[in-house]
Amino acid sequence: MNSHQKYLRYTWFLLVMVFLVIIAGGVVRMTQSGMGCPDWPRCFGRWIPPTDASQLPPDFEKYLGKQDIDHSFNAYHTWIEYINRLLGALLGVFIFIHFIWSFVRFRKTNKAIVWLSFLLLVTVGFQGWLGKKVVDHNLAVVKVTTHMLVALVIAAIPIIIIYRLEKWERKADTWLKNISVAALVIILAQIVLGTQVREQIDEISKSLDYQQREVWISQLDNLFLVHRSFSWLVLAACLAIVWKARPYTAFKKITWLILSMVGLTLIFGLIMMWGNIPAWAQPTHLLLACILILAVFTLRLRLK
Ligand code: HEM
Repeated sequence: MNSHQKYLRYTWFLLVMVFLVIIAGGVVRMTQSGMGCPDWPRCFGRWIPPTDASQLPPDFEKYLGKQDIDHSFNAYHTWIEYINRLLGALLGVFIFIHFIWSFVRFRKTNKAIVWLSFLLLVTVGFQGWLGKKVVDHNLAVVKVTTHMLVALVIAAIPIIIIYRLEKWERKADTWLKNISVAALVIILAQIVLGTQVREQIDEISKSLDYQQREVWISQLDNLFLVHRSFSWLVLAACLAIVWKARPYTAFKKITWLILSMVGLTLIFGLIMMWGNIPAWAQPTHLLLACILILAVFTLRLRLK
């Protein structure tokens, strides 16, 4: 493997890490561990959090008071939240290494790559800062939506870098280009709608002490209807892409990815609706939606 391939591989690895961090965030929410570490960046004032109540600092009440749930120590929640933070921090370190590597490698030959890597570093720093705000304000002030959209930007930048280095473009007709832009806008709108539904679910579940999952869906307002019905538009846009991309063998893989992701996102949406929102379906639905939009984004980049 030459150094160019190594650099590309490392950029792919960053993309995988971003998805891992998205999954970890989903698991934190699924297990209601968000307030497992009431302070930030440390956890109960320590760099290695307690594994047992006996290890809590003398002023532990101060930390527990910040919690929105049960105001008690739960090592399982604490460690899930802490591992999530470690993964986020690790991603930050890997991105920093990427920036240095990009600077050394491309500062004379391809400045755009250096700037993109720098943008990635700034965006991930911003996301970390947002994360702190979420903790400081007990998850309320900074809306989940902003966090979600920034996460998508973080995932999109490595894709742009790879695309620029791989010369991935292929000539394509205007129709396919327009449809993919339309699909991007529609899916983005659907993701924003979804995060609004999620905020409602957060409030409903909290008010019910995370019990009685069977009534959560029935307590959602019309926004949920809009989210559900909007899926038809998402599906139509994706099918139009698949149809229009048929003549291009180069796009076979990516259109298959789009088709399977839209299908699975819908299926997991329905599982939540009919199956009383099983906890595991929540992060899965989110992950699939992220892969879907990034796949459409990748396709659009490749159309010349
Ligand atoms: C392709 C179409 C769809 C996309 C792209 C999409 C995307 C999303 C996204 C991004 C979220 C926010 C998840 C989070 O922040 O954790 C969400 C939430 C949600 N979506 Fe969808 N969705 C789609 C279709 C559907 C359908 C068809 C249903 C139900 C029939 C549905 C039900 C829900 C529910 C119940 C939530 C709240 C989940 C939670 O609390 O974690 N979605 N959706």
